[in-house]
Amino acid sequence: MSKSRLQPPRGTRDFYPEDLRRRDWLFGHFRAVARRFGFEEVDAPILEHEGLFTRKAGEEILEQLYRFELHDRRLALRPEMTPSIARMVIARAGSLRLPLRWFTVTQNWRYERMTRGRKREHYQWNMDIWGEPAVTAEAELIAAVFALLDAVGLARPDVRVRISSRALLEETLVQGTVLRDRPEAFPALCVAIDKFERIGEDGVRELLTDPDGSVGIGEADASFVVSWLGLRKLEDSAEHVPAGSPAYADLRRLFELLDAYGLADRVVFDASIVRGLAYYTGIVFEAFDAARSLRALCGGGRYDRLLESLGGPSIPAVGFGFGDVVILELLSDRERLPECPRRLDAVVFALGEAERPSAIRIATALRRERNWSVELVLGASRLKRVLADADRAGARFLYLLGPEEAARGEVLVRDLESGEQTTEPISD
Ligand code: HAM
Repeated sequence: MSKSRLQPPRGTRDFYPEDLRRRDWLFGHFRAVARRFGFEEVDAPILEHEGLFTRKAGEEILEQLYRFELHDRRLALRPEMTPSIARMVIARAGSLRLPLRWFTVTQNWRYERMTRGRKREHYQWNMDIWGEPAVTAEAELIAAVFALLDAVGLARPDVRVRISSRALLEETLVQGTVLRDRPEAFPALCVAIDKFERIGEDGVRELLTDPDGSVGIGEADASFVVSWLGLRKLEDSAEHVPAGSPAYADLRRLFELLDAYGLADRVVFDASIVRGLAYYTGIVFEAFDAARSLRALCGGGRYDRLLESLGGPSIPAVGFGFGDVVILELLSDRERLPECPRRLDAVVFALGEAERPSAIRIATALRRERNWSVELVLGASRLKRVLADADRAGARFLYLLGPEEAARGEVLVRDLESGEQTTEPISD
């Protein structure tokens, strides 16, 4: 067997107990925050029909799909949760009480080029609201992102949420001259300009002006689009957007609502946020560490037409995905990663085989009645070794049963923190 067979595939992770404790700590916060906001958890298979993900806007996520054919079926590992949730909403659309608030904590697979914070599998916490067209939904979701950042111990200035609106750009381009004749090219245009940071201005211009590409606009129009990305004040967009723009009003309202949540100093307008997924239709946002040393911690936005594009009814939707990898990197950089020690209440040790039945009864009682986490020493061992192991495992108590204690109907209880020793009657 080649050595590589014994490694996890590149870009994927094993979780040893200490890793899993940390992951549980983070997921515990994901779940607690979502529940505090009144969301319910759902789940779906990690495997979906490939067709659920197929879209035509040139998104990177589709080139990164883990796909395969089995018994004439084309299947794929999900690269994100949103299409699966959309599928679940469609299946029960008639009976769901809207607005619907659902969250998920799931693993996603993308065959990425790996860099810091970018793996080939990652977990994502998603919160989505279905059936609410107003930006009150966006505000609630962004507030949940900050509730999580606070809960995991990041300082207030550590993270900013950058907000923009695809609808604002769409109104400007479609009602202006750039895409008046070809509004259907807008999602592909967004996917292209989302690559700005990776391929630079020239790369984006090339994509936008390629006559055989899916956008195909002229040089001057491409310059306008690129210059739009430099806007950092909502007011500066006003001279370009159509009069009475609903998207502009929505953005203003969102910033007002975020102020009411006490978040005004933590959010900024940033026109360079467009997102790389084709389905977004309105407000889009991403959270970044203040120094921008890492990729986005989370990203989301409004996607009011996804359900229809999958053949379902028209239900507006907005949500975000928050990855596990980047937040752990940031917490590590800020020395905010918690210890997450193992929790073990007691080790129960019978000195000899004659005492084993009593040791079993004691372990069973502690587990059942005190709900303790109890490790029963299974084989023959020496006390010194048991003590050292219990100490290493962070156990609080050692329950020791020797022939003398057993004869007296007692068990010796050693508090491993203080060293204090007491006895407890076995019958208790
Ligand atoms: P996304 O921006 O592709 O959005 O992913 C959301 C977050 O997941 C990213 O900000 C990042 O933290 C994390 N993430 C994504 N890919 C990787 C990777 N290869 N390695 C590590 N972390 C990664 C979505 O997936 C949308 N479905 C989110 C959404 C939900 N929009 C509406 N509802």
